[in-house]
Amino acid sequence: MRHYLRGRMLHCRDLPGAPRFGAEYLEDGVLIIEDEHIVELLPASEAQQQGVPLEKCQSLGKRLLVPGFIDTHVHAYQLDVIASYGEQLLQWLHRYTFPAEMRMADPAFAEEVAAQFLQQLLVNGTTSALVFATTHKHATDILFKAAAELNMCLITGKTLMDRNAPPALLDTPESSYSDSLALIEKWHGKKRLHYAVTPRFAITSSPAQLRVAHTLVRQHRNLYVQTHLAENRDEVAMVRKLFPDSRNYLDVYDRHGLCTDRAVFGHCLHLEDDEVARLRETGGVLACCPTSNLFLGSGLFDWQRMRAAQLTLSVGTDVGGGTSYSMLSTLRELYKMTQLQGTTFSPLEGFYTITLGNARALKLQHRIGNLAAGSDADFVIIDPEADALINRRVKAAHDIADEWFVYMTLGDDRVISETWVAGKPLYKTDGAVVKGVAA
Ligand code: GUN
Ligand code: ZN
Repeated sequence: MRHYLRGRMLHCRDLPGAPRFGAEYLEDGVLIIEDEHIVELLPASEAQQQGVPLEKCQSLGKRLLVPGFIDTHVHAYQLDVIASYGEQLLQWLHRYTFPAEMRMADPAFAEEVAAQFLQQLLVNGTTSALVFATTHKHATDILFKAAAELNMCLITGKTLMDRNAPPALLDTPESSYSDSLALIEKWHGKKRLHYAVTPRFAITSSPAQLRVAHTLVRQHRNLYVQTHLAENRDEVAMVRKLFPDSRNYLDVYDRHGLCTDRAVFGHCLHLEDDEVARLRETGGVLACCPTSNLFLGSGLFDWQRMRAAQLTLSVGTDVGGGTSYSMLSTLRELYKMTQLQGTTFSPLEGFYTITLGNARALKLQHRIGNLAAGSDADFVIIDPEADALINRRVKAAHDIADEWFVYMTLGDDRVISETWVAGKPLYKTDGAVVKGVAA
């Protein structure tokens, strides 16, 4: 069944190095979708010439259609950790985060949290994410199943942690291998799902467990790796003590064969020049998490330095360390971080980053990240009229980049009018379309 949407559309075409990030704006476009995929995006005049029945198009009115947002670093089971007061990373983990994750030992509770987590993504216009689960095999399985039911493109994996955390959360090198293997066999490459080998960070994995992670990566094609890197100064000092033979923090992962071009490293605030150079050599991906870095007092991500070093950059929310599931709110804090450092981060760079940029970082640009023919039909409809101030400021916008900057500076879930996943409207502000996805 074909479906036609007509109105204002913005996306980035996949032209590496293109000026303005390949941004393409159609004032009057027609998006043709069939089942799960985008057939074509074209100007309405051309669509009419090709015989598209314009009267059958769903009109967007004043709204703007953009690709679904992508979050490259978020923790599914930290839903109840968001907004936990007064601690920095290591204390925050022990005081709030580990106890919250321990509650996922109860499968019924984990199921409820996983459903709510995916709902939060959709309400905020996020259609794909790279996600940390918990150390529990069943909680990881539950998250995969919930994403499969919504037909979302999701990457996740069981968190590996065999030391320096409460005993109830610890696995062993042996169990982390067998549990991960079973999950990989069940979910990796099924529907729109992918597996990420997920050592939490160097502090909570023994060398034996990091070797297991490498074995898993070697034994399977196209597995992702996700972990944390150089988020907090006390963390960096502790890694130095735990791995005295390593040259630096990244070297702990590198020696264990985990520095691949599918490895996504959260935070990367306190990197030495050698680490930056090695990330460039290996094609590793950085996931910048500005709301978390400010909230936990971890530091300022140096976007300009990493961009100049030609690293692959992406952006994530990192909830529960982060304070919002909204990629718009996340861009706003990233913009402020660059302002504090006297550098630049343009509106279109922001738009590119949470759509095609994050898709490229995850090597999924052929499926998600823009509105190109053949892509999966994941998109979001933004409504400027959802808020009086935003509406007023958008009316004064001098071009589409300026309009986008208004959403990025003032917007959040309030402006998300519809979220479509694989050709289906899973969320609409005017009510639930799919059971369990009500606002
Ligand atoms: N480092 C190790 N685990 C975590 C986590 O859950 N959140 C954040 N922000 N950093 C971490
Ligand atoms: Zn994190």
